[in-house]
Amino acid sequence: MDMDKLVSLCKRRGFIFPSSEIYGGINGFWDYGPLGVELKRNIKDAWWRDNIHLRDDMVGLDCSIIMNPKVWEASGHVGGFSDPMVDCKDCKGRFRADQITVICLHSEEHAPAIRSAQHYWFSAMGSELDVEESNAKDFKKALAKIGPGSEGPTRTIFSPINQWVNQPEYKLFPCPTCKKQGTLTEPRAFNLMFQTNVGAVADEASKAYLRPETAQGIFANFKNVVDTGRVKIPFGIAQVGKSFRNEITPRNFIFRSREFEQMEIEFFCHPSEAAHWYKYWRDTRFQWYVTHGLGSEKLRLRDHDPDELAFYSTATADIEYAFPFGVSELEGIAHRGDYDLSQHQKFSGKDLSYFDEERKERFLPHVIEPSAGADRATLAFLCEAYNEDEVGGESRTVLKFHPRFAPIKAAVFPLVKKDGMPELADKLYRDLKRQFNVFYDEKGAIGRRYRRQDEAGTPFCITVDGQTLTDGTVTFRDRDSCRQWRVASSGAVQALRELLEGQPVPSAG
Ligand code: GAP
Repeated sequence: MDMDKLVSLCKRRGFIFPSSEIYGGINGFWDYGPLGVELKRNIKDAWWRDNIHLRDDMVGLDCSIIMNPKVWEASGHVGGFSDPMVDCKDCKGRFRADQITVICLHSEEHAPAIRSAQHYWFSAMGSELDVEESNAKDFKKALAKIGPGSEGPTRTIFSPINQWVNQPEYKLFPCPTCKKQGTLTEPRAFNLMFQTNVGAVADEASKAYLRPETAQGIFANFKNVVDTGRVKIPFGIAQVGKSFRNEITPRNFIFRSREFEQMEIEFFCHPSEAAHWYKYWRDTRFQWYVTHGLGSEKLRLRDHDPDELAFYSTATADIEYAFPFGVSELEGIAHRGDYDLSQHQKFSGKDLSYFDEERKERFLPHVIEPSAGADRATLAFLCEAYNEDEVGGESRTVLKFHPRFAPIKAAVFPLVKKDGMPELADKLYRDLKRQFNVFYDEKGAIGRRYRRQDEAGTPFCITVDGQTLTDGTVTFRDRDSCRQWRVASSGAVQALRELLEGQPVPSAG
């Protein structure tokens, strides 16, 4: 699937627009249009319903975006939430050093020439194979011959550029944008938190941050939630909301932006049960994406290698999706031990331990954190849904969303604008509208109206036609198979409900 086609469909049909576009936009910020806001809201609502309402061991929370700055000292964000940044002194390009991959083909026979730049290929962001155009052909040929990572006299080394800082080769690496050699600065730490000031005076004392994750608001409220008495360990607190990161290089549409939404759970449990709950959430969260249509080979669960783990984490897994620009993280599930609560206990001076009535034991709970991005989920479901096919000799673009996520659940059409059909269609539309987000359209040929709904991802179209006037039935049409069948108009609301809940479309004939 071509990313450009998806971005253009999103713009044309009102899913996603560049932010403040009439002023030339602003890099790393996006607006959700009339269809996009419904899609993202449906994803967030499904997440909330499945993780909070349908469970007995979860509660929700909605914290402020700006918190006491000490929260971010305790969490480690003030000291360590940074990316290594590299600048090009010539073209002023700015990059994340850990995302410029140096791919070095090295063989005995090439050893004398290894210091010449032609033996390095660069992947600025994205997949490792996304190499510089001019070298792509040679690179693929070479890889096919020796295979990545193969050992022996011939080796291929993939490594981020920041691991080469102290090597003489560093000054040979060209800038990924202007391709000049020796123009890259050494990487320096760039803190990703957006700063602001609270109150009228902008000084050190009034400095505050826009939250870079929703998680810390949950930890800061752990005691409040426990003290309200509704919860007993093991239990989780969930939050959905905006987070802000001053990403050095926002890219890939809504995949990496500077303002985004997270859907996070902190699940608190007894230390002896943490391994069990980690496995439980790792598997449950993976299954959630499968259930909603990402069941293809494009979805992966990747356990972190021990050297990737944060020092306090005993296990972390990423749910990854093969986006058109490479395989990338959708959600992380981390076993965080008691790191967060112990940090907040230390910095706030408040006792955050929990007394377990059944065990008659006081302890600091361990935490399992499934942390998902609502925008990344939206992008993955858009990519997966995007299809081009042919119906009756005509090509169409169709978004095959899971019915739960579809922005519009059904569109109602009168076949023609006469003979009382618009009145009947309007009545049906109003009946359906009480329960579902439905759309009324009487403009243009019926085929064109179907195509418009296919592009919007509407699972069903319902048409009032000549036969409706005689026997009171309407035509239902299924988006994916384009199959059509008749349903009594009086039973249309119930029929649509059953279809949206997963009842199969009647077979042909
Ligand atoms: N509390 C843990 C945490 O925030 P993270 O891996 O930094 O972990 C969790 O973020 C999720 O938030 C990611 O898996 C991703 O879906 C989403 N996310 C993070 N940064 C993002 C960005 N710049 N743009 C869009 N989504 C982002």
